[in-house]
Amino acid sequence: MPVKLNVNGADHQVDATPDTPLLWVIRDYLEMTGTKFGCGMALCGACTVHMDGQPIRSCSTPVQLAAGKKITTIEGVSSTAASPVAKAVQQAWNDEQVVQCGYCQSGQIMSAIALLEKTPKPTDADIDSAMSGNICRCNTYQRIRGAIKDASKKLA
Ligand code: FES
Ligand code: FES
Repeated sequence: MPVKLNVNGADHQVDATPDTPLLWVIRDYLEMTGTKFGCGMALCGACTVHMDGQPIRSCSTPVQLAAGKKITTIEGVSSTAASPVAKAVQQAWNDEQVVQCGYCQSGQIMSAIALLEKTPKPTDADIDSAMSGNICRCNTYQRIRGAIKDASKKLA
């Protein structure tokens, strides 16, 4: 049975077994490669996407759990139709020159957008809590924090 998915506003049917990780459906079946594979064990956050607005680890989410839900990937928040929060976050990421190697950054951005959609004026504790599952081997954490605060100001 094909699995029906809505990704970035578009409906898809994919011939994947129900336990296939959503990450592989996004990358291999739908050919959206902005979402990255890091640990495969829900430990690093590189694979973060939104499911009905909540950040989830797509490496450890079986595709069957995503059926009927709205999935948003980094490609979805990069479009001109992206939300004001998504645009503010991406502008702030540029302004603060957050990115080093870039590998973790789509996951970082997805977590930051989910945080600011829910909490437009986050405290340091809110940021720590929302971003603690996103690891950056290049140690860009201070710039990420600065960019989240900058995006929050842009949205005021
Ligand atoms: S690849 Fe999913 S959390 Fe690391
Ligand atoms: S920018 Fe290199 S891992 Fe985060």
